[in-house]
Amino acid sequence: MSERNLVLLGPPGAGKGTQAQRLVDDFDLPYYSTGIILREAVEEQSELGREAKQYMDRGDLVPDDLISRVIAERLDSGEADDGFLLDGFPRTIGQAEVLERAIDERGRSLTAALLITAPDEEVVRRLSGRRTCAKAGHVYHVEFDPPKNDGVCDQDGSRLIQRDDDRPDTVRKRLSVYHDQTEPLIDWYEERGLLRRFDGTMTPEEVHSRIRATLATLALEAEI
Ligand code: AP5
Ligand code: MG
Repeated sequence: MSERNLVLLGPPGAGKGTQAQRLVDDFDLPYYSTGIILREAVEEQSELGREAKQYMDRGDLVPDDLISRVIAERLDSGEADDGFLLDGFPRTIGQAEVLERAIDERGRSLTAALLITAPDEEVVRRLSGRRTCAKAGHVYHVEFDPPKNDGVCDQDGSRLIQRDDDRPDTVRKRLSVYHDQTEPLIDWYEERGLLRRFDGTMTPEEVHSRIRATLATLALEAEI
């Protein structure tokens, strides 16, 4: 079967992490969320984490060269040779160019950029109720997608926490950064025939089944 090289795009809170969990279960793809990688680096107080923290706390993007290096390392590690799922990268045209070059140089191609959309007011509602597991970043919502036991991750039993950047003022800043710096990627991927759109206001199950249907069609087309 052909490789699945996928990018998840969309505003904060659209459900990228939520869908990524399901797609990883479906296809057993190596999953690289730059948000999770950076939060782990902050936690470990590594050099990357110390540099990234100031940007993340403000709701700004970390510099392109810093995050692009992180992704290039993952693509070179060997574990992504049969496919990958990127969440939160690329997030600027500069990052998209870096990724395009990196994939080209390896003689590979992107399968699709999966755009999940959600209006700003829905994002604010979702992020105020989001909880993530302290160990692996599994995602829940106190109202829309609650864990079986309050405050405990269904998947690994670890503690559920609120992200530092989910404070309402930081969420608003993240949204404006998304509109300014990341939204231009929609046209960029559209021009390359790679964009596939999903309405993120449907239930997580509905969004998931539509993404699966689209990936099944793309896989069939690749075989023809
Ligand atoms: P990152 O961690 O990537 O955050 P984000 O893009 O702002 O996206 P979120 O993780 O907040 O939202 P999501 O779409 O994953 O939604 P989720 O599934 O959790 O980045 C954080 C920071 O790191 C950035 O601000 C930046 O500083 C830095 N960074 C990261 N990558 C970078 C890069 N490439 N370049 C530069 N800087 C970078 O869902 C949200 C909530 O909604 C959950 O509670 C969930 O349960 C609920 N929910 C999900 N789907 C549904 C649904 N269909 N219906 C109802 N509720 C739902
Ligand atoms: Mg996420």
